Amino acid sequence: MGTLDMSELLHLHAEQRGVRPPLRKSREIQGNVLAAFNKDHQQFRFLRFTDGKLGRTWLAAMIGYLSVTADVEDFNEAFSLGRAMFGGDPQTLKATWANLSLTAEGLVKLAVNPSAVTEDLRRRDPELWVGAEARADVTGDDPEEWLFGRSEQRIHAVVTVASDCTERLQAVDTVLDLLDDLLGVVKVHQELGETLPGPLKGREHFGFKDGISQPGIRDFHEEDPHRPGHRLGHAGALLVKPGEFVFGHDTERGDESDRTARWLHNGSLQVIRRLTQDVEGWREALRDHADALGTTPDEVGALLIGRHRDGRPLAAPADPALGLGPDRNDFDHADDPLGERTPCAAHIRKTNPRAFTYRTPAQRRILRRGIPFGPPHEQDPHAERGLLFVAHCTSIREQFEFQQRVWANNPEFAGGADGAPTGTDPVIGGTGGARFGGTDLAFPRFVRTTGALYALVPSMSTLRLL
Ligand code: HEM
Repeated sequence: MGTLDMSELLHLHAEQRGVRPPLRKSREIQGNVLAAFNKDHQQFRFLRFTDGKLGRTWLAAMIGYLSVTADVEDFNEAFSLGRAMFGGDPQTLKATWANLSLTAEGLVKLAVNPSAVTEDLRRRDPELWVGAEARADVTGDDPEEWLFGRSEQRIHAVVTVASDCTERLQAVDTVLDLLDDLLGVVKVHQELGETLPGPLKGREHFGFKDGISQPGIRDFHEEDPHRPGHRLGHAGALLVKPGEFVFGHDTERGDESDRTARWLHNGSLQVIRRLTQDVEGWREALRDHADALGTTPDEVGALLIGRHRDGRPLAAPADPALGLGPDRNDFDHADDPLGERTPCAAHIRKTNPRAFTYRTPAQRRILRRGIPFGPPHEQDPHAERGLLFVAHCTSIREQFEFQQRVWANNPEFAGGADGAPTGTDPVIGGTGGARFGGTDLAFPRFVRTTGALYALVPSMSTLRLL
């Protein structure tokens, strides 16, 4: 049993008085949940504890390496200040951060009271409890192909280390290897994520700008005084209640904190998926379909994603006065019920149908924290490559799995008017096809799941009390 430090005591004191500590400077919520690491180099260490007691000692040592939301926010503020003062990115400002998640099995292994933890987890998130492998029929995966996440691997923890420079990442890797060896922690698997080099920075391997549309978070992001409910400076980013991503805060369904065990508060569910991309297959299909449609491969790609490669959406802006930049998000497809501009099967419409979302759109959102792995196709066409997809939410079934199962994999779901032409999501849906620009296009699978895991990123207090 650990002890509380001063920041946690202040936090508890504030909560007892009914005062909410500001989320931006939270020292309770780990980094990369609300405040993205956004680092070019990220290592994912998949670990197994051989002994609960040694595991708790390991955890006590690991806590010193973990970053919290306030660390990431302070860095971002310093970075923006440096940019404003020197007119460019401050090259000397660098950081290395880590966060830690535990699978259901890992939480039980470390818990002093395993039966209480088991009961709370089962009640709060049955999908976390059973794990990603047991849900493979729901997500449409074949665990035989997985490099991590199969039950026999018995993964208990994932440490994500993120850094601006490879040397620092390697140094931390060496230290963590020593710590693991010392305390009987087995490294079952490891992944390395790297942003793509040069002009491809910020793109995924099919060549499209990624990480554009993220929900704004109430009490964390500033509200636009002229557009209530929207994030300041991010046209079209609706402010979603923080409880959609972090336990113990207001959700779109009402305040659920009473339903959630105290030790889960300020924790977040994490979905990790290794998604291998067949770039050659994708490009070939674009060329073939371009011939059939009498257009260019780039135009076909834009129809499949719903945005051009540079990020410009196909949708018309809800408010033309807000500009037409690549990061534009101020559209909701309400003016396009049949998918004539943005096909109903396009990836961004399948995963966020906006005005056509069943229930409140905000209840289906996820925070995406993915990073590519493997070299660009041009550098080594034969290497494996893809996306280490990481998402945060507070209900795996209602948020991540809903997007994947009910929307992306479902050939009937249109995200438009009843009967609008649709099909499966060409990026992440199963083998299938969809209707684009009035023509039916068939696809093989360009993205295969080669690893998957569900975990909890606990609050700092909970980690200290384990
Ligand atoms: C958006 C690519 C997997 C959910 C995007 C965008 C791209 C992209 C290029 C548009 C840029 C942006 O708004 O950030 C990919 C690729 C994937 C992949 C290449 C696999 C290799 C997934 C998965 C999910 C997902 C597994 C969830 C089940 C989303 C969501 C958006 C998005 C929610 C934002 C839609 C919006 O709000 O407009 N993705 N994605 N993606 N993707 Fe994916």
